[in-house]
This record gives sequence, C-alpha cells and structure tokens, in this order.
Amino acid sequence: MTEQKIRVAIAGAGIGREHLAGYLDLPEHYQVAAVCDIDRQRAEKVALPFGIPIETDLQAVLDNDVIDLIDICLPPHLHFEAILSALSSGKQVICEKPLVTSLREVDLVIDAAAQAGKMVFPVFQYRYGKAMTQLRSLIDAGLTGRAYVASLETHWNRGADYYAIPWRGTWSGEQGGAVLGHAIHSHDLLTTVFGPVAKVFAATATRINQIETEDCASIMLQMENGAVATSSITLGAATDTSRLRFCFEGLTAQSGELPYAPMADQWTFTARDPKCQADIDQVLSRISEVRSGFTGFLESVAHCIAQQYSVCDASSVYAGPPGSVRNAGPVTLQQARHSIELVSAIYQSAESERSINLPLDQSDRYYDGWLPLRQRVK
Ligand SMILES: NC(=O)c1ccc[n+]([C@@H]2O[C@H](COP(=O)([O-])OP(=O)(O)OC[C@H]3O[C@@H](n4cnc5c(N)ncnc54)[C@H](O)[C@@H]3O)[C@@H](O)[C@H]2O)c1
Repeated sequence: MTEQKIRVAIAGAGIGREHLAGYLDLPEHYQVAAVCDIDRQRAEKVALPFGIPIETDLQAVLDNDVIDLIDICLPPHLHFEAILSALSSGKQVICEKPLVTSLREVDLVIDAAAQAGKMVFPVFQYRYGKAMTQLRSLIDAGLTGRAYVASLETHWNRGADYYAIPWRGTWSGEQGGAVLGHAIHSHDLLTTVFGPVAKVFAATATRINQIETEDCASIMLQMENGAVATSSITLGAATDTSRLRFCFEGLTAQSGELPYAPMADQWTFTARDPKCQADIDQVLSRISEVRSGFTGFLESVAHCIAQQYSVCDASSVYAGPPGSVRNAGPVTLQQARHSIELVSAIYQSAESERSINLPLDQSDRYYDGWLPLRQRVK
C-alpha cells in the first residue's frame, strides 16, 4: 500500500477496545491517533498499553485537523448527534450499531454525508469471514438456485451484570432491546444473503431481566424474493449461541454456533441432489481465508476510503488478502437504513399485533422511530 495511513480516533472505550484490536491488525492502513472517553481511566486502560494518546472531550477530537476518521463507539442514544458533529467537522465516520434509531434520522445522516462529501460506514462486522465468501461464491456459481427458507437463532445469556451499565435495558439509553441490540446482526446477515424484507409479524416479551426493553422475540419474515424466514431471539439461553440456516433449491447452508462471529465459523453446505455435492465442494475448495469480524470490516472501509468512492457499493468493493475469493464490501448507509426500517417494522408489528409491510414511507407513524410510541406506553 502506498496511500497515506488513515488517522482514526475511537470515541468510546467499551467495544472500542475491540475496534482498536482491528486497527492494530491493519497497520498498513490505519494509525490510531486518539482514544476518547469521558471516563479517563477507561480510555487509559485501552490506549496506554499501545502508547495511544487519550482525550476526554469529543469536541477536541473533532477540532483536531490531524484526524481523518471518527469511529463512534458511544451508547446508542448519542450516535445521531455524534455522526452529524463529525461530518460537520469534515471527518469520515464509522458508527456502531444501531446507526441511529429512526428512518428520519437515517435520512438526515444520508443527506448530511452527501453535503459534507464524506462517508459514513455503519458497523455490521458479522458479515466478514470465510463462510460469507463461500456462500456468495456458491450463489454466484449458480449452485444455490431459488431461496426457500431461513432460520435464525440469537440465543444468548445476559444477566444483571450486563445491565449494570445504566443505559442498557432502557428505551431512552439503549433505545431498544434484544431486537435492536443483539439480533440486529443476524437480521443483517439474513438481508445480506436473501435481500430485502417485504413483510414481518413479530411478538416481543420481557421475561428474563428487570428491564424496560424486550429480551425475547419471535419474528416471521417474508422476503422480497419470495422466501420466508423465522428469527428466534432470547437473552435467557444457557449459553451464547448464534445459529443460521439457509435452505435453497440447490443446497442447505448451515452455520456452527459461534455467537459473535458466525461467518468465521465452520459451515456445512449440503446439496439436495447428492450428485451436485462435488460441484459445491469444488467451489469451496477454491476459497481461502479472509479477514473476519472487525478486522475484515475495517479492511473494507480502508479500501473504500483509499479509492475515494463517494458512494460505496457493497457489491462492487471487495477487500481480502491477495488470493482470497473476496470478502464482503463495506456496509452501506442504504443497508443500515433497511436494518432500521426492519427494527421499526418489528416493533410496530409487536405493538399492533398485526403484520407490517415494508418499505415504510415517510407518512408511516414509525418513520420517526419507535421510541415516542414505546415511551408513551411505559
Ligand atoms: N458490533 C458489536 O458487536 C457490538 C458489541 C457491543 C456493543 N456494540 C455497540 O457499541 C456501542 C457502545 O456499546 P458498549 O457496550 O461499548 O458501551 P459502554 O457503555 O461499555 O461504552 C461506551 C463508552 O462511551 C463513553 N462515553 C459516553 N459518552 C461519551 C462522550 N460524550 N464522549 C466520549 N465518551 C463517551 C462511556 O464512558 C463508555 O466508556 C453501542 O451502540 C452498542 O450497541 C456493538
């Protein structure tokens, strides 16, 4: 690489620690110029072992001309304002999930990014890993055929220690429960593989912890391509497992149970017609390792910034070391928009006890998000 390194500041030293590990895996692309947290001790714990400067005032980071990219790892209720401030300071932006918490906010972010001439990269790091390249290659090789059904399980275990952080489990802080904060990743994988959702029917419940937001959900989804899917979500499982299964006309793709990096796990790809298994295996044999998780995501962001795409097209921008088939491109704002639209529809369905068609338009009462309606209920 001959391009200049991207100088990044990480805002928020919780999951920011894992982002830092991703940047440190990619020294050819990134220099971490600051870790910013209002809690100085937390910032020190993350940054000092690597000799990275610390900052406690986000505005000071935004005013620092040396920094190119702000990586927002703040609690969800702070994302929208932080993104707009970073864009108006002339920075590129990475922002943790959920990007923001209404379609109106996403649309304002899309406009603000276009006006600033900068990119906003939503985080969905589960997409990155060898299994996604395998699945994508089988689809491209014409071996999957029509999509039939998918099942998704986000069965994790969260207790009082997890909810000791005050913003979690509240509508005002976390802005949602397991649908927004946890299963958002498997729903992103569903739409990455099967495309957009056309209709949802959802039920949510709070059964495990004494929190305002939901910790269980069951969702039926109808996809635009005609396939159907189910998503089962709980934070009261005995262990943390994520499990995905995609049934196609030509094969069934099934993940392992790794909770936080399903695409880095071993998947099985089984032909419906045993005579086709050799073709599948031949495609799989050509696929080498690609970077997974945050490292894979940050690599795709670096490629995108280096090539100065004004709009990053996830289908045309691929990262991955030489020899790899290809990793996923960066997450686009339109994809994050669909993710927020899906959350809006799920909460609307759970509240109204009826199915909801997507897309939601600007006159939909959930266009401004689910929060005004949910908080009114409380
Ligand atoms: N992609 C993933 O797999 C994943 C995993 C965990 C969390 N997250 C997301 O990351 C975000 C942060 O979650 P977390 O678990 O790290 O939370 P956290 O509370 O552990 O960390 C957030 C940090 O932000 C700091 N902070 C708050 N306000 C600030 C401000 N104005 N300026 C600077 N620092 C400030 C806090 O002191 C805290 O240290 C959330 O949106 C969450 O949904 C994503």
